[in-house]
Formats: sequence, structure tokens, C-alpha cells
Amino acid sequence: MTRSLVEQKFAAAAKGYATSEVHARGESLGRLVELTAPRPDWRALDVATGAGHVALALAPKVAHVVAADLTQEMLDEAVLLAGERGITNIELVRAPAEALPFPDASFDLVTSRIAPHHFNDVEAFVREAVRVLKPGGTFGLVDNVGPDIELLPGIAAAEIAAAEVEYTTFEKARDPSHNRALPLLEWLDLITRSGLVVRHRERLVKVIDLDTWAQRMRADRTMLARLARILDDPSPALAAFLRPVNDAGKRGFTLHEGIVVAVKP
Ligand SMILES: C[S@@+](CC[C@H](N)C(=O)[O-])C[C@H]1O[C@@H](n2cnc3c(N)ncnc32)[C@H](O)[C@@H]1O
Repeated sequence: MTRSLVEQKFAAAAKGYATSEVHARGESLGRLVELTAPRPDWRALDVATGAGHVALALAPKVAHVVAADLTQEMLDEAVLLAGERGITNIELVRAPAEALPFPDASFDLVTSRIAPHHFNDVEAFVREAVRVLKPGGTFGLVDNVGPDIELLPGIAAAEIAAAEVEYTTFEKARDPSHNRALPLLEWLDLITRSGLVVRHRERLVKVIDLDTWAQRMRADRTMLARLARILDDPSPALAAFLRPVNDAGKRGFTLHEGIVVAVKP
């Protein structure tokens, strides 16, 4: 069977995501758990769980957690981490975010973190999340977000739109399975249109080391050179968004995360 680009990229990179500092310990992990306020009798679902970091953080706080992902090798990493931590109330399911194999109204909490920018169809993902949530259930999203007027006040809309295209090119140069990081304002619109009521939203920044970030996706020298070229010569709007730094050849930049917590009426 042909594997999607996402599966090919993440199958090869699975081990790196189990130990990645940003994924295993990033600030948004604790914030997501705190803000969604999981309860001991809840059934939770973490969509595109990767190595399972959100599902494993939720597990001690809920009755049962389902960790779903498209890529079997990522689920295998989650199984290993669950074993290391002695977590037994977790179920691993291979499933696409856009067509969740669960009955309507079967979860109290649906989360997804640092993954929807890979999805082919984020509208279908949110529609599915709403479908599988019980009335009163909580939706918790964390994702890298693209530039918008809130992040770049004073910059013309056309320049922000061009910076978004440049940013997507930068991400795709490192990982062709990157699709699009929606700006937070677009997420809020989509989530509201999907019938959820937004209870909380916030932004976080994460300072990224270019080499570590690129190596996680098994960068070669050509890829690294291409990424460095983009960081060295950004448009003013992209520079305001990515805030590139170059310390004697050691390059870094800033990524922006959005967090949204919403409820199903
Ligand atoms: C960066 S990793 C996930 C990080 C993880 N949620 C965390 O908090 O550490 C992205 C994951 O999204 C999964 N993925 C990408 N597109 C998907 C889709 N359409 N449906 C389900 N999983 C998907 C990939 O297989 C990969 O495991």
C-alpha cells in the first residue's frame, strides 16, 4: 500500500519526536492540560498524537484516553513511552484526523497539538472533533500559527499574506508534508463556524535552533543551506514574524503557537 507523504516523513522521524524537547516538554503541553481541565471520569481523544505526549500527560487525569495517529511508527513510540511510565489506560488507534473511526458523542475531551498544520483538510478535522464530542465536551487545540494582523500590527495585509506564503515555503523546505499553519484568527473563525464556543485563546512563542529543528526531519546539507538562505534574506514582514538570529553561523528563529479551548454546546 502506498503511504502518504505524512506517514513517510514521520515514520522515518518517529524516534526524534519521542525525545524532542519541544514536543515532550514544550510549554504548550502543560498549558493544554491545564486549560482543558481534564476530570477523572472523562474519556479523552488526542488526534495526531505523534509519540503520544499529550495523551500520556492526560492519562493520569482521566478514566481513559485514546491516542490516534496516521503513522504506525509514531504510535509505536507512544506504546514504548506508555510502558516506561506504567500507563495502562491508553488505547492506540491508527486513524486519520479527517475521518475518525469513533461514534458520535463518545468523548468528553478532544485535543490535538502541533499537528493540524499537516492535515489536508482542517475543516474536516474540526467537523469530526465536534461530531465525536459529547454535548458539553471540550476541544483543545495547539498548533503552530501563521502570521496575521494581531501578530504583525501596522503591517499591510498584502505583506502579511506574502509573508505567510514565504513562511509556508520555509516549512515545506524542511518538511514537504507540512501543509499550512493557519493564523490564529482563522482558527478562531473556523472553530466558531463549526459550532463550538471559544472559551479561551492564547499565543506562545518558541525559540527554535535551526540545526536541531532541521535534523529532527533528517535534513541534509542541501536542505540546511536552503533554510539558511531563507532566514538570511527574509522580507521585512517575514523577518518580523520569524525574528531570525545568526550568532556566528548558529541560526535560530521564533515559531508562534496558538492555543484555543472551546466547548460543544
Ligand atoms: C509533530 S507530530 C505530533 C506531535 C504531538 N501531537 C505532540 O504533541 O508531541 C505530527 C503528527 O501528526 C500526524 N499526522 C499528520 N497528518 C495527520 C492526519 N491527517 N491524521 C492523523 N495524523 C496525522 C503525523 O503522523 C505525526 O505523528
